[in-house]
This record gives sequence, C-alpha cells and structure tokens, in this order.
Amino acid sequence: MIEAKSISKFFSVINEKGIAEGLTAVLNVSLTIPDGKIVSLLGPSGCGKSTFLEILAGLQAPTDGTIHIDGKLVLEPLPATRKEQIAYRRRYRFISPLANGVFQDRPKHDIAMIFQDYAVFPWMTAVQNVEFALKLRNAGRRGNGRLKRAELTEKAHFYLHKVGLSGFSNKYPSQLSGGMRQRLALARALSVEPKIILMDEPFAAVDALTREKLQDELLRLWAETASYGEHITIVLVTHEVQEAVYLSDEVIVFSPGPGTIRNSIPIEAKRPRARTDPALVEIQERIFAMFQYDINQEAEYSI
Ligand SMILES: Nc1ncnc2c1ncn2[C@@H]1O[C@H](COP(=O)(O)OP(=O)(O)OP(=O)(O)O)[C@@H](O)[C@H]1O
Ligand SMILES: [Mg+2]
Repeated sequence: MIEAKSISKFFSVINEKGIAEGLTAVLNVSLTIPDGKIVSLLGPSGCGKSTFLEILAGLQAPTDGTIHIDGKLVLEPLPATRKEQIAYRRRYRFISPLANGVFQDRPKHDIAMIFQDYAVFPWMTAVQNVEFALKLRNAGRRGNGRLKRAELTEKAHFYLHKVGLSGFSNKYPSQLSGGMRQRLALARALSVEPKIILMDEPFAAVDALTREKLQDELLRLWAETASYGEHITIVLVTHEVQEAVYLSDEVIVFSPGPGTIRNSIPIEAKRPRARTDPALVEIQERIFAMFQYDINQEAEYSI
C-alpha cells in the first residue's frame, strides 16, 4: 500500500528579473493507493504530476510530508528550520542529504519507474537495456537472489517477448518506433518484477491508435501479473481523460498548479471494459466539466 501524507514540494527559482522566487509544485497532497490497483493522476501540464511521482519513487525528497510504502518510509522531508538542519547534518554526516534512503530500510527494488521521455539507453540494444535493469537489481542482492549471466539474458528475452519485441532484441532504440521504445521501457520495468510501477505519461509520444493498443497491452500485462501472486500496483500520470478513465480503478484529478487534489473518482466498471461504455463516458464528461470550470475560474481571476 502506498500512503502519501500531506506532501508538499517547493522550489526556489530565479525569475526573469534575476530575483529568487518560491514556486509551489505540489501542495498538501494526501492519498492512499491500495495494492494491486491501477490509479491515474490526471491534470493539466505543469500542475506537479511528475514532481509528485518522483517523490513517490524516492527520487526527490518532499519539502513537507511523508510517503510510506508498505509501512516503510520512502524519503524523509528535507530539513526546513535551522534546528532541523543541524539535527539532519548530524545524522547524515557522511552522505548527501538526498542519499539518506541508503541507510534506511526502504523498499528499493520493489518500485520501477518509467519516465516521461521513456528513458531507455540509446547506446544499448533492446536486450542490453533490459539486462541492465536486471544487473542493477543483482547489485542490490546477495547470494541466492542474484541471477547468473545466462539467467539474466534468458529473463531479458522473456520480457521482451511478453511485450512483443522478440524480433527486435538486438536493435538499438533509434532503430525502433516510438511505440516499440515505449514497450521496451515497459519490458525493462516489468523485468525486475516490481510490486509497483510508476509511469509518467507513458503513451504521450505515440499516435492515437498505437496508444489504444498499448493501453490494452498494459492491461493484459497487469492482468498476467496476478499469476505470480498479487497484481502489481500501477500509478500512471496522464493528461488524457479517456486514458485515465479507461485504465484506472481510481482517477485522481489534480487542480491546475500548484498541484493539489481536486477530486478523486473511483471507477468501478468491470474489466474488460468497452471504451464506449456509457458509464465511462459519463465519468469522462464529469471530469471535462470540472476542467472547464477550473479554466473559467482562472479566466475570471486574470481579468
Ligand atoms: N527542479 C525544478 N526546479 C524548479 N522548478 C521545477 C522543478 N521541477 C519542476 N518545477 C516546476 O514545478 C511545476 C510542476 O512541474 P511538473 O514537471 O511536476 O509538472 P507536470 O504536471 O508533470 O507537467 P507536464 O504535464 O507538462 O509534464 C512546474 O511549474 C515546473 O516549472
Ligand atoms: Mg510531467
């Protein structure tokens, strides 16, 4: 279970006049994501979705608030007051503040993240990309949990096959189409058999038809994960209303920046779902109406 309590993130930025300004990217976000669910974070560009997802992954420390995954703290907030700073320095004397998770019992390899610009390494072939993720996982394990060289390659091929890329294992990302690159990123995330996959706009760079196909593949792969225990949990960032409603058990709507939760909408329709299901369409319309209202409100304020 993922539990976020009052997460806020402030950045200080230099404005065009050269003066430092505060920017609130995420404001007081609290949510609970139960195991095995697909949850979408939906919101307009710049509302802090990526920032929040990175905080969930432990890649950025929040300014305030805590994230617990299965009861374990992900990354503690950075110190704010002078007193906190002194205590913090004393505790983490030898390492950078952002590495404070290293010495904590945090769930390191249970999470896989797919970034907004599908970060696959261009200098590695498809199979090498997947092997690399497995090698990283090996590095964090001792003894029996480690995969041998041959097992590693076998597993990499297994996951490439799962996402329909068996014929492309020796191709470099530049030789793949956008959709294939996206599948490669997915294979790499799945290969480490995580409990949670965090996806940042995974299908943004492909055309509408490919997008629908990838969505269905994602649902198929998610359904398959139930065969070795529980479903994995997927947290997906998107700004496509239809995508969020079609895929998710719950849609969390963010307000236009600073990112706070505007509404959270459970979607109970059974899977497999039809995209034209009137119940889903009704929810989509409700969300669109909400966005419309927000935009109008903003327009009123700016006059
Ligand atoms: N490292 C940073 N330093 C300063 N400001 C930042 C930093 N990272 C993000 N921001 C700001 O925080 C806000 C939220 O950014 P974020 O990338 O989380 O938005 P987003 O919802 O993912 O947008 P998009 O849908 O366009 O990807 C933006 O105003 C952005 O300029
Ligand atoms: Mg983003």
